[in-house]
Amino acid sequence: MRDFRRFARQSLRYRGTVALALLFAVLSASGLGAGLVGIIPVLQNILQDGHTLRTLAARVNEAPWMPDALRMSDAFIASLTQDRFKTVLIIIAGLGVLTLLGGAANFLHAYFSLTVVQRTVTKVRRDAFHRVIRLPLKRVVAGGASDIVSRIVNDTAALGAGLTALLSRAVAQVTKGIAGLTAAFIADWRLGLVSVAVAPLLYTIIRRLGKRIRRASREALRSQAGLYGAASEALQGLRVVKVHTTERYEAGRFHRINKQVMREMLRVRTARALASPLVEVVSIVVLGFLALVAAKAIIDGQLDPSRFITALIALGAAGASLKPLTGLVNDIQSSAPAAQRLAELLDADPEPGHDSRLPRLPRHRESIAFEGVAFTYPGAGEPALRGIDLRIPFGERVAFVGPNGSGKTTLLSLVPRLFDPDAGRVLIDGRDIREVGVRSLRRHIGVVTQEVVLFRGSVAANIAYGAEGVTRERVEEAARKARADEFIRQLPNGYDTELAEQGLSLSGGQRQRLAIARAILRDPAILILDEATSMIDADSEARIAEAIAEFHGGRTCLIVAHRLSTVLNADRIVVLDAGRIVDQGPHGELIARCETYRQLVRHQLGGSGQQ
Ligand SMILES: Nc1ncnc2c1ncn2[C@@H]1O[C@H](COP(=O)(O)OP(=O)(O)OP(=O)(O)O)[C@@H](O)[C@H]1O
Ligand SMILES: [Mg+2]
Repeated sequence: MRDFRRFARQSLRYRGTVALALLFAVLSASGLGAGLVGIIPVLQNILQDGHTLRTLAARVNEAPWMPDALRMSDAFIASLTQDRFKTVLIIIAGLGVLTLLGGAANFLHAYFSLTVVQRTVTKVRRDAFHRVIRLPLKRVVAGGASDIVSRIVNDTAALGAGLTALLSRAVAQVTKGIAGLTAAFIADWRLGLVSVAVAPLLYTIIRRLGKRIRRASREALRSQAGLYGAASEALQGLRVVKVHTTERYEAGRFHRINKQVMREMLRVRTARALASPLVEVVSIVVLGFLALVAAKAIIDGQLDPSRFITALIALGAAGASLKPLTGLVNDIQSSAPAAQRLAELLDADPEPGHDSRLPRLPRHRESIAFEGVAFTYPGAGEPALRGIDLRIPFGERVAFVGPNGSGKTTLLSLVPRLFDPDAGRVLIDGRDIREVGVRSLRRHIGVVTQEVVLFRGSVAANIAYGAEGVTRERVEEAARKARADEFIRQLPNGYDTELAEQGLSLSGGQRQRLAIARAILRDPAILILDEATSMIDADSEARIAEAIAEFHGGRTCLIVAHRLSTVLNADRIVVLDAGRIVDQGPHGELIARCETYRQLVRHQLGGSGQQ
């Protein structure tokens, strides 16, 4: 609940709107209260020989609480009707107007409070995304992306429901409840007192049930994140799913998690279903008891029946207003776990290295070195890298080879500090990269990943990603250097062709060339290229090799090679196996002495081993 309160407090930032919302809630409730009190003279006129408008006005005028300024003149009072029915008519007409005004106030209250809720939720969503995009990669890998997406989308929605319950509905109901109770007190204070005495009992019931609901909601939210994961994975990999005709399997997987969500939701069912009837029964028992006591008092002539009936009506109105509170408290309780998960996200430490006081890394011109580097992915049993020692002088072109899962991608992702090693250090030009600003470090590094990531937008925008304000000429030049210009020009709108999500409309080789153009545009001192493991046609392959060879001058190139041609063009080859460097050297030497390398050349790199 603490986290929910924190977000509720955040909505106080919109002070003016909150004040307006409260004002109209109070106005609307006062309308209700005044209307209820107004019933007394109507009833008195109907049931007994009550007051006419003239006698009523005279009585009000003489009341001790009446301020002098508001006192009516005798002439005005004398002009008022003496007719009982006309009196009732005028009072009811007045109540009608009051109801209209109350309705308008009610609308304005809801209008302003919902505004506050939406603003708050939008702000929380923005803050959350702001945080997420700056989280260390390790945290995202460990927690799972879909869990985080679920927090940003689902949990903020749940928080919004809770805030609506609190700010809009609960405030309206509570003020109306208070108005009803006040009216009941004015009509008959003894009845009012008894009903107030019952309130703590009702409160305890609601609170007990609320706790159970909160616990179960937390589990439900967690399973919902799983639901997200299963659905988005299946959709992202829809090609694979279809080709493998695993629709049934995926549907089954989704169904299992979906059922899990339902089970969690059903656990709240009893508590939710019980709340309203319990409160109802308690209220009716109390009212019945009150009616008995009152009936005795009326028969004995100690109680004015009009006042008693009005008090009952007012209590009914108070009850009707307060009853939805049980549901509202439950709604608020359900959103507490969402608030907690959001708070966790918002309080997560951002990626280190963004401190502006850190020195900047000058452009790389000496060496890149790994010293005793070890790394284990969060939650993984085996380390992905162990005891890596490697020094690469500036300008060298190094190919990394190794079986799948040997740690090539992991090793190279330590250079732009996507992960920090658990042990050892990574040095650029003799400086530990943890001691410099991570932005300046990454500015000098161009990365082409194994799975090319393209964003929604035009081809030109994708090449210029992260390099704002570059001219079209420079984009096209980079594309030419990456050997991408030709195929881009053949697209329907050339450089302005909009790419679908993930660039599915392009082939693997074309996507990789776009990524190379993106890297070239940054003019990096270090190029990290993770060759696609997926099939790339011979034409693309040759062009990529050409582009790299041309681009290489004056830079250090670290290339994860999955193709023999790349290996043969390298100055040095580093062979990885199970997270260790098993050998390094030029192709000829390795073929002669390294069995792992020979195997790789034969089976993975597609060569005969005889080069
Ligand atoms: N996100 C992750 N969470 C846990 N373990 C991971 C993660 N990514 C990789 N690993 C593990 O780390 C090890 C090294 O993976 P890495 O991706 O570096 O291999 P690789 O040499 O690039 O393989 P490939 O040739 O298939 O690209 C593997 O055992 C892999 O299972
Ligand atoms: Mg890899």
